[in-house]
Amino acid sequence: MTCEFINDLGLKAPIFQAPMAGVATPAMAAAVSNAGGLGALGVAASTPEGAGKAIRETRALTTRPFNVNVFCHAPALRDNDRERRWIERARPLFESFGATPPEQLREIYSPFQASDAMLEVLLETRPAVVSFHFGLPRPEQIEALRQAGCRLMATATCLAEARQIAERGLDAIVAQGWGAGGHRGVFDPDATDEGRSTQALTRQLVQEISLPIIAAGGLMDGADIQHALDWGAAAAQLGTAFIRCPESAADEAYRARLVSGGGTVMTRAISGRPARCLVNRFTAWAEDAICEDIPAYPNTYDLGKALNAAAKERGETGFGAQWAGIGKARGDIFPAGELILKLEEERRAAASNGDHRLEG
Ligand SMILES: Cc1cc2nc3c(=O)[nH]c(=O)nc-3n(C[C@H](O)[C@H](O)[C@H](O)COP(=O)(O)O)c2cc1C
Repeated sequence: MTCEFINDLGLKAPIFQAPMAGVATPAMAAAVSNAGGLGALGVAASTPEGAGKAIRETRALTTRPFNVNVFCHAPALRDNDRERRWIERARPLFESFGATPPEQLREIYSPFQASDAMLEVLLETRPAVVSFHFGLPRPEQIEALRQAGCRLMATATCLAEARQIAERGLDAIVAQGWGAGGHRGVFDPDATDEGRSTQALTRQLVQEISLPIIAAGGLMDGADIQHALDWGAAAAQLGTAFIRCPESAADEAYRARLVSGGGTVMTRAISGRPARCLVNRFTAWAEDAICEDIPAYPNTYDLGKALNAAAKERGETGFGAQWAGIGKARGDIFPAGELILKLEEERRAAASNGDHRLEG
């Protein structure tokens, strides 16, 4: 399918690497873009200075367009009692690693809406694409980025979110299905979640919204990408498929668990927002935790990160935020650029033999 948005970016393949905060690196984003896909950086967990540095590093490695992603979550509503209960609940775990939990939880990430400094960095560096997760920025931020020449995308997990994105005049929508790895991009984590699959959501948004739809969630190979195009998507966005690339910042334990037997689970216990993670000791503990009692994002993440650090200190790697989609790990490991070439070759083969087509 031809699409102005993809054509204007000059991509050779309709494949977007997901902006994975903590996993994607400048080397990964640049390799993907150099190979003709759209590379991406997730800078939501970075300071504005760190984001600027990562963008400049990426620029030094590629002249091609890439995407820079920020989080637009609602600021955390503090609930001191709930936070105290959560800290106490985790105390025995910390103690089992010879550590003590934090006395208080901190709001470790500012939403993009509240960060003039992050907006300044984006306006200075002018990435070809800027994308938003968990909601939308303020109208004047959208306008400023537009004036700077950036193309804008945001994640939707349902039709209502997609309509808001379209009404605010963005250029494209990432349709994130239930099987996607990492944080679910829901605007309101406390609202009822329809949990649509990538296929169901993509098809629905293609029908209802006249913007390019980028399918995301559980897509792992070229045939999967071709399926997404057949559903009407303009491109596919893949995250998990890139975690084992040599350019990824994922540690050895995370890489190893991706290929081990366990599955994935949607949990709020690590960060305070629903996110799909590999089943590990943290998610097993969280199953027993009282889910309604989990504090808000990103305060819960403050404890999650401290717990992981304490566990790692004692050689226990099962407490990381090991985000992954339902596709987990498929096939061999390739450098990110080679992976794009392989995915595109597979996609073209699937398109020409036609036997990839799914029913329904
Ligand atoms: C390790 C990891 C980190 C992620 N971080 C971000 C992020 O910073 N911003 C974002 O918009 N999406 C993030 N996502 C979600 C992706 O954008 C995308 O929805 C997801 O990777 C698609 O599903 P898949 O992992 O099955 O390919 C992340 C996903 C993973 C696996």
